[in-house]
Amino acid sequence: MKFLKWIKIEKIGYGGIGLARMSDGKRILIKWWALPWNVVDLKIVKQKKDYIEAHITDIKSYDKTIVDAVPFCDHFFSSLEKKDLTDEEKTKIWCGGCKRQLLSYPNQLKLKQDIIEDAFTKIKKLVPEIAILPIIASPEEKWYRNKIEFSFGKYIIKRDDKLNILSDWSVGFHKQWEFSKIVNIDSCWLISTATNEIFWYIKNLLISSWLPVYDQKTHKGFFRHLVIREGVNTQQLLVNLVVSDQYLVEDEQKSQWDNLLEIIKNDSYLKDKVTSFVVTYNNGLADVTHTPDSETKIITGEGQMYDKLLFTKENISEDQEKNEIEVSFRISPFSFFQTNTHGAEVLFHTAAQMVGYTKGTILDLYCGTGSIGISFMKLGMGDNLVGIEIVEDAIIDAWHNAKINGLDEKVFFAATPAEKAFTTVPEITQKLENLWLVVVDPPRDWLHKNVISTLAQLKKEYEFKLLYISCNPITMARDIELLLQEGFSIKSLQPVDMFPQTHHIETIWVLQ
Ligand SMILES: C[S@@+](CC[C@H](N)C(=O)[O-])C[C@H]1O[C@@H](n2cnc3c(N)ncnc32)[C@H](O)[C@@H]1O
Repeated sequence: MKFLKWIKIEKIGYGGIGLARMSDGKRILIKWWALPWNVVDLKIVKQKKDYIEAHITDIKSYDKTIVDAVPFCDHFFSSLEKKDLTDEEKTKIWCGGCKRQLLSYPNQLKLKQDIIEDAFTKIKKLVPEIAILPIIASPEEKWYRNKIEFSFGKYIIKRDDKLNILSDWSVGFHKQWEFSKIVNIDSCWLISTATNEIFWYIKNLLISSWLPVYDQKTHKGFFRHLVIREGVNTQQLLVNLVVSDQYLVEDEQKSQWDNLLEIIKNDSYLKDKVTSFVVTYNNGLADVTHTPDSETKIITGEGQMYDKLLFTKENISEDQEKNEIEVSFRISPFSFFQTNTHGAEVLFHTAAQMVGYTKGTILDLYCGTGSIGISFMKLGMGDNLVGIEIVEDAIIDAWHNAKINGLDEKVFFAATPAEKAFTTVPEITQKLENLWLVVVDPPRDWLHKNVISTLAQLKKEYEFKLLYISCNPITMARDIELLLQEGFSIKSLQPVDMFPQTHHIETIWVLQ
């Protein structure tokens, strides 16, 4: 059996995966565009002993109390509102982002709250008294992203059993389900007008160079990615064009590239709008912007940009100042920085309130450019900061950021994996005197077992609060369970929405 008809989606799990059941009780996992209580037709893509994986082919009926909004983006496609599309139109749909735009923002938040309640069911059984507070909304529902990564590629559709190339020069996002195809994007609703305008301008410059796009299937071509980062509170822009130059062998193409570089250097519009333009030469096979072998060259500016986070000390420091505090950050092309700047202000301020007034040492095990620790110190929390981070450029930024915020005498940063930090950098142990707060804000994966045991060991030596921030409630739930086994107890937990229109969820926990 390849297809299933009239299946009712019972609930949505993390990652936006819909859950339904066959009449014999077997679970059906429905990827992409699943919404609770939709009745759908499905195509089976995987049959396992315990479950079936399927994609939606048609939506038969839906609950209008949940599905209550009209999609705003031309690149979104849903079988709810099937249209007759021309071949050209088909190259522009299904970009895979903003899957929740069929829901009004209040409904998106409600759905996220349900998903969080579900993800933490086991922990609620272990600690029945914990209350999951209502999710805090993002300050902006659209135009909130300060970083966008476009990919270049081809767009091919099948017609008459033959492959017809409709567009051999696209820049945009990977098409849902068909990773090698790139949906051609003109603008994106998640980034600001300034970023959209610069994207449009650069796109036209690159098209007019006649240089080819990189094809992820054949690994040939030139343009690979275009990453634009915006300093939302500084109006700075950092552009990183990622190319593969290994097949740029013909003299003609080399001179086309040299000409393009000259244009980028001298173009008055780019000079006016772009703080720094860098090019990354990446000849690796993986579809990533950089590898240890890639090389980034500065074309204009200093190769980095700055942003600020703005806070008040209200409800945090002892002096209860209401004045605005500005915290400045230098951000390099490959350093992590929270992608929703105003959302990060809410996230960090909320976390600071939950932790409360803190003295002593703050240890941040996944510190990026030092954003959480430096913000906390500027808010009057903690006396010293020790930050650990795997990306060396981010640690170089963190040292610089401590300096420009007047904290360089009070910080220590090390570029090393958190799971090895205490053995590779023994100095860290000496810096932990009077440890008051440990921060963990890891990537989506769960904490490495060494990090859990480090936290357990530290707990024996110090009385500290543990601030755990994560964008994956599933891995977080497992970690919290392990931390409970190590003797930690839960103080508070608060979901915050940093990613409207998408299924991503951020949660803050404070343990002790
Ligand atoms: C979600 S980000 C949080 C960064 C920072 N807290 C912030 O809010 O800007 C996670 C960070 O962990 C870093 N990272 C990933 N794996 C790591 C590891 N094994 N050890 C230390 N840092 C790691 C990433 O480079 C990234 O900067």
